[in-house]
Order: sequence, then structure tokens, then C-alpha cells
Amino acid sequence: MDQKIVLEASGISKSFPGVKALSNVSFALRKGEIHALMGENGAGKSTLIKVLTGVHERDEGEIRLSGRVISPKSPQEAQALGISTVYQEVNLCPNLTVAENIFIGRHPRKRGLIDWETMNRESERLLDRLELDVDVRQPLSHYSVAVQQMVAIARAVDISNGILILDEPTSSLDASEVSSLFKVMRKLKQEGLGIVFVTHFLDQVYEVTDRITVLRNGEYVGTYETEQLTKTELVSHMIGREWNETDAKAGAAKEIPTGGEIFLTAGSLGKRGSLHPIDLHIRKGEVLGLAGLLGSGRTELAKLIFGIDKADEGTLTISGEQLADMYPQKAIQKGLGFTPEDRKVAGIVGELTIRENIVLALQARKGLFSYIPLRKQKEITQHYIDLLRIKTPSGEQKIDNLSGGNQQKVILARWLATQPKLLILDEPTRGIDVGSKAEIRKLILDLAATGISILIISAELEEIVQCASRIIVLRDRIKIGEVSGESMRENVIMEMIAKGAEVYGDSDGIGA
Ligand SMILES: Nc1ncnc2c1ncn2[C@@H]1O[C@H](COP(=O)(O)OP(=O)(O)OP(=O)(O)O)[C@@H](O)[C@H]1O
Ligand SMILES: [Mg+2]
Repeated sequence: MDQKIVLEASGISKSFPGVKALSNVSFALRKGEIHALMGENGAGKSTLIKVLTGVHERDEGEIRLSGRVISPKSPQEAQALGISTVYQEVNLCPNLTVAENIFIGRHPRKRGLIDWETMNRESERLLDRLELDVDVRQPLSHYSVAVQQMVAIARAVDISNGILILDEPTSSLDASEVSSLFKVMRKLKQEGLGIVFVTHFLDQVYEVTDRITVLRNGEYVGTYETEQLTKTELVSHMIGREWNETDAKAGAAKEIPTGGEIFLTAGSLGKRGSLHPIDLHIRKGEVLGLAGLLGSGRTELAKLIFGIDKADEGTLTISGEQLADMYPQKAIQKGLGFTPEDRKVAGIVGELTIRENIVLALQARKGLFSYIPLRKQKEITQHYIDLLRIKTPSGEQKIDNLSGGNQQKVILARWLATQPKLLILDEPTRGIDVGSKAEIRKLILDLAATGISILIISAELEEIVQCASRIIVLRDRIKIGEVSGESMRENVIMEMIAKGAEVYGDSDGIGA
């Protein structure tokens, strides 16, 4: 491999009020390599990237691009130098077309006007090269988050001149999308690009990267050849103590409640164009999993139950009471909680503090006339900061200032604080580091053991199989079957998803 270093950072330090995010960190990216940047939530990965790309000014240290010292003061400046970045949260304009998004800020012009023809043609050529089948004339919002993410990457690749930085680009992609992204990454690597890749999926790191740099608590731990570092060693470096995979699974022995009281029943619940009528029931203290590919209808089902979308067919019964209609306020009153998959859109309120974000749902449930005293709010907040190990100097920090994974934990805390009877978790560990992932899975089982019902959606089959006592499998917005007990294995579910229409039994044996 070409050993030439294209981007080098040394002795980088960066502080925010109350937080030393980076302290004396070094990092070197070679030409033609894919380099993973790893570390726990809040370790400093995104901050390092933001320093390299001019979003944040560093307090100390030096950055060299092909040997020359640079000090980008803005992302535009970094881009002009050929460093382009796809951040953790997609930052495109949903109402502009795909082509416009690719060319934002650098539209081709003809006689002073935007040259639409060239722009569309160039966008098509670019997406073709990346083997993406997207109509560049459609508004971006026409496409799924996954496709939007790919468009962001295409744009970055087009701007890039030798360096591409991807901060958790795969967290909302399904398996086939991940593999097409990896194909693109490998191709770009062959072309000589240096790629920085941040992810919490260890398997992906081993599949696609050449080297790994680990950060812990804002400090540099080391850089390793991927081939020479075992997974156990990697995680141990990340968390700073011995780790083994069986530890992570310990405590995950689950009680399987059968014959318990039924908390919620959906009878032929459906919505035209969104979800075929589905029957399901959830018992008290049961963890019910929803498996299926992206777009299979999992989130749609969750939204119908919580009343975010309106069902146009079927019934919903909670604690024996059939409800005439459902909307979120009512769902909350009936004891439901819902952590959405897209925390930016339906989750965090950026300008509010961690405390305000956490008490939001609880306050809504109590009603605005029974204000929760500040002292109580602080107590609740501190409880969840400790329980979920949310990394922050205080509960009064603006949530926008937290790392991505820690924001995710705050949303989980918001719903735990309402002490729900049924908690719907849509991708609860997306963006969460390996250690915390295991803790959250254990927490889910502990909650169930106290009698809370849980409906869990996750793209990681392993996660559902580990947590759930029964799994409903969806495909193309239809329930194609249900598994539990012995047949609740990843390969069985994969096969069901692949084969589709085959009819499987209702494993709880009561029909709905
Ligand atoms: N603008 C900011 N103001 C205050 N603190 C910040 C700001 N940005 C980041 N931090 C803090 O710096 C630390 C490092 O955060 P960073 O986002 O770099 O973590 P990360 O490694 O990317 O984590 P994750 O895996 O959760 O994305 C965290 O403690 C975070 O709260
Ligand atoms: Mg981050």
C-alpha cells in the first residue's frame, strides 16, 4: 500500500465550556486507505473531524495537508482544500432537487443563470459512477433517509480532492445499502482517496477498513492495522478495560412471559398505501420485536399504534378498552412511549437543555397545569444521566452540544421518565457505542421484568433476537409471520424475509 500521508493532525486540543473534548490528539491518514476512527459516545470523534474541517477552531496543534500546514476556518475553506465531509446528521435541503443538492453553493452557470441541463447531466453521471439509481430531478424529500445519505456522499465525493470523511454514514442504511456504499468506498480507495470512516458497527470496521485509530475521553489511544487487532482488543482500547463479547451478553437471560395479561391488541390495523391490516397483541412485561428490512412497514406500524399516523382500518384496544381514535397526546395518557428512529426530526429540541428535553413527555402527560417543580426535574435528570451514563458536564447543557450517541440516550430517558406501560423503541441503539448498546439491551430486559411491555424495532437482527421473546416479521408492509422460542434465530428470520409470502403460524397461539 501507498504509505504517503495525505492528512496529518498532531497535538490537537479543543475545549468547550466545562468539557475537554480533545487533548493532544494525533491522527494520520494515508493515501488510498480506509481509516476507522473509533471510540465511545463522546470520545471526541466528531469533534476531531470538525476541527480538521474548519467547523471548530482548535485550541492547540497542527494540521498538515500533503505536508503543508493548513488552518481551515470554515467547512467551505476545508472543501476548497479538497477535504469533504458527510456529517452524522444529513444536512441537505429536502425541498430542492437531488441535482440541486449535489450542486448547492457551486451551481454551474450559463450567462449568469443556473445551467440546469449541465447540472442534471453532471449529477446523473456522478450517481451513475456510484451506481445509484436516483432521479436527479426529483425533490430530495421524495427519497428515504438512506438514499438522502447516499446523495450527501455523492456530493462529498464530487467535491473531494483526495480526502473524504464519513461520520457514521451507515447508521440509517440497511444491509444492501451498506454493501453498495462499501463498494463505492473501495472504488474511491482504488482511485487513491484517503477515507476516514466513523461507525459503531464493529463488523463494518472489519469488513472495510485498513487501519483503526482509537480515541478515549478525548485522548489518543493508538493506531492499529485492522488485520492485526482483534475485536476484543479493539473494544478494550475503546473502553479502557478488559472486555469480552460474552460479558456484553451476560444478564441478557430473558424471562418469557406467557399467558400474561394482554396490554394492547391491534385488530386488522392498517392504512392504505402505508401498511396492510395487521393483527398483533402485546402482553404485560413482554418484549415484542418487529423485524424486516428498511421500508417493510415497521416504523409505519409503530406510528399507527402511537397515533402519529391515523389508521383508516381496524381497531386498537388498550387494557381492554377499544379506542375510537388515537393521537400522540392520548397515547401518552394511556401509558405509551415512543422513541423515534430519526431523533433530529421527531426527537430532540436542540435549543433546550438536557433537563428540559427529558421532562418534556412527562410534563405533557401530567398536563400543563401541574408543573413539575424544578428540584424534581433536576432529580429526574440526574437519575437518568447516571443510569444511562450520559456524558455531559451537567443537566443544564444544551442538548445540541452533546455527542450524537448521548443525544440518543436523552431521548430514551425522556420516555423512561414517563414510566410508560408500553414503550415503543424504534432503533433504540442506533449511534450508540458497543458498551452502552449492551447496557441498553440489558435495561430493556430489566424494564420488561418489572412489567413494562416493549415493542422494539431494530435493523440489527441480533439485537431483536437478544431482547425479544417473540418477533413479528414484516415484508413489503405485510406481516408475513411470527417466531418465538426455538425458531427465534437470525437465520430463520432472514430466510422468512427473503422468501416472503410463506405463511408462518402465530407463535402465541391466540390468533391476534
Ligand atoms: N459544541 C459543543 N459544545 C459543548 N460541548 C461539546 C460540543 N461539541 C461536542 N461537545 C462535547 O465534546 C465531547 C466529544 O463529543 P463528540 O461529538 O466529538 O463525540 P463522538 O466521539 O463523536 O461521540 P458519538 O459516538 O456519540 O457521536 C462530548 O463530551 C460532547 O458533549
Ligand atoms: Mg459523533
